Amino acid sequence: MTRLTIRDIQAMKDKGEKIVMVTAYEYTMAQIVDAAGVDLVLVGDTLGMVVLGYDSTLPVTMEDMLHHIRPVVRGTQRALVIGDMPFMSYQVNADEALRNAGRFMQQGGCQAVKLEGGRTVAETARRIAEAGIPVMGHIGLTPQSVHAFGGFRVQGREVEAARSLIDDALSLQDAGCFAVVLELMPAALSVLISKKLRVPTIGIGAGAGCDGQVQVFHDMLGLYREFTPKHAKRYVDLSEIIRPAFAKYVDEVRRGDFPTEKESFKMDGAVIEALKER
Ligand code: KIV
Repeated sequence: MTRLTIRDIQAMKDKGEKIVMVTAYEYTMAQIVDAAGVDLVLVGDTLGMVVLGYDSTLPVTMEDMLHHIRPVVRGTQRALVIGDMPFMSYQVNADEALRNAGRFMQQGGCQAVKLEGGRTVAETARRIAEAGIPVMGHIGLTPQSVHAFGGFRVQGREVEAARSLIDDALSLQDAGCFAVVLELMPAALSVLISKKLRVPTIGIGAGAGCDGQVQVFHDMLGLYREFTPKHAKRYVDLSEIIRPAFAKYVDEVRRGDFPTEKESFKMDGAVIEALKER
């Protein structure tokens, strides 16, 4: 199977087809979402929270990201895989950002990178894109700046803030980003931005008017219990399904009901006798 490219993703916007993106962090999850037909798989730095147990995405390192990008690339055949650049891997200067984006492509094997921010990172995005690395932008509530925002708040509700987000989106497009994530903003604003941009917008908490949608794997499956954002839809509550299975296993081992003969291996009678004789 051939993998989707950024040209295919652009063609979807041009034809008015919705683009589906989801996060994944390891091989078997990646196989499942790829087989389900998602177009874009983001190895998001949300892995800091849902996989590594931190209380924000800030502690995630380049090494953490690379460790998770590689198995996701191995687990996908069709979806385009995007590596999320972690906090402080691209903010210091464009040289460092390009070097780190290059590591994602070369050592991780992904097909694109994502970074957070608008006009402030546009020149960095341009530098990466000009080096031949597809870049996805991300504006609105950008979680790496959660402390600057003073919490996870909807962005762009006021005229000036909304205008500023529109300018951010246009500057990322101008810098060469192939798509822009719009996170946590009013639905009407994301409609406006999606109409203004030639490149696709991918929404999360930004309403139905974006060109595509992204969700966090663990939110969709009820696997991350600490916090469920309003914009997340739980398609299945896997925790409620998995927990009783483990409770049953604990019980069966303790009672001696597992393993049974079915899960055990036989030994030839003559070998057993020989062992007994000794
Ligand atoms: O890290 C992540 O999972 C993300 C998505 C929520 C867009 O950036």
